[in-house]
Amino acid sequence: MGSMFRIAAIPADGVGAEVVEAGRAVLDAVTGPGIELSWTEFDWGCDYYARTGRMMAEDGLEQLAGFDAIYFGAVGWPTVPDHVSLWGLRLAVCQGFDQWANIRPVRFLPGVTSPLRKADDTELDWIVVRENSEGEYAGLGGRNLAARGRGSEVAVQSSLFTESGCERIMRFAFDLARGRERRRLTSVTKSNAQQYGMVLWDEVFERVAADYPDVETDSCLVDAMAARFVLRPEDLSVVVASNLHADILSDLGSALTGSLGTAASANLNPERRFPSMFEPVHGSAPDIAGQGVANPIGAIGSAALMLEHLGFPDEAARVNRAVETVTAAGVLPRDLGGTATTKDVTSAVIDALG
Ligand SMILES: NC(=O)c1ccc[n+]([C@@H]2O[C@H](COP(=O)([O-])OP(=O)(O)OC[C@H]3O[C@@H](n4cnc5c(N)ncnc54)[C@H](O)[C@@H]3O)[C@@H](O)[C@H]2O)c1
Repeated sequence: MGSMFRIAAIPADGVGAEVVEAGRAVLDAVTGPGIELSWTEFDWGCDYYARTGRMMAEDGLEQLAGFDAIYFGAVGWPTVPDHVSLWGLRLAVCQGFDQWANIRPVRFLPGVTSPLRKADDTELDWIVVRENSEGEYAGLGGRNLAARGRGSEVAVQSSLFTESGCERIMRFAFDLARGRERRRLTSVTKSNAQQYGMVLWDEVFERVAADYPDVETDSCLVDAMAARFVLRPEDLSVVVASNLHADILSDLGSALTGSLGTAASANLNPERRFPSMFEPVHGSAPDIAGQGVANPIGAIGSAALMLEHLGFPDEAARVNRAVETVTAAGVLPRDLGGTATTKDVTSAVIDALG
């Protein structure tokens, strides 16, 4: 008897639809009688907003709650302010389902030229673990005093750091580091300038580290960390950072691998009380949407993370190996310097699954 999983697909906007279609094709090819995926697609996003004034159905979270996982494309379109589309759909799902751990592997693919010269002769492979439920994106604050006239408005945007929120993401990162060849965890901080939240972050890191004597640790200021991603990335294994810091650093990481289009991510509710969400790191790329040239590798890598989460690490590894075979053979989309279309890359990956 095989296992059956209910997956919600939310392609949303722009290239989201193109890369979700690609990822689904790979998932359907790698699964079979043993693992069955039953798909339901939701048409939420900026078009839905134009029709209904909402980014997702009013009872959207209730509709999604029964699924085993969510496979997401990208949200955002020039017709809707970005903060409205992001908070109305992607952040609504992340926060509503307490997907507090966001993992973003930085993977260097064979056959892809990295802007980092060091990548040619150094083994590089690290994972950014992002706190995904509070920090700088807690949504706390407000705007005021606009009534005093033009030029007088003020805005406050507060960060929220809770001891329990810091502790759970750090334990998650330590557990991840423990399972890797290089047992090392680096904490990203800014406690020199932010004396409340980031100092609490540092203290919790130090306390939790005592429970993991087998994991090497260090702590690095976010500005220095940006430089280290470029100059000394061979030192990194797992990197844990706040919501904003990890957001920025993981884009830097994916750019170093060659393109934003190759980066995968998982928004996890580790307790499994709610479905987790798997999505490429990139956005809806309005500049290339509809042309059939979007790089599907980030979405395909996210599909592999979903397989892992559902309990199929061998199938996940097969997908990742197939992607490597394809890039090594020089089948590259435009953003990686090649001429392959989204469909070309996708069928090559499916062929390489073996
Ligand atoms: N997770 C998300 O849904 C998410 C993330 C980032 C941005 N956004 C939204 O996406 C919209 C566009 O934002 P942006 O331009 O800052 O970021 P973006 O990631 O959409 O695009 C940045 C650049 O990378 C390129 N790119 C992105 N994905 C690609 C792919 N798969 N293949 C080839 N090239 C790719 C784009 O063409 C563009 O030049 C905005 O509305 C923004 O709010 C959504």
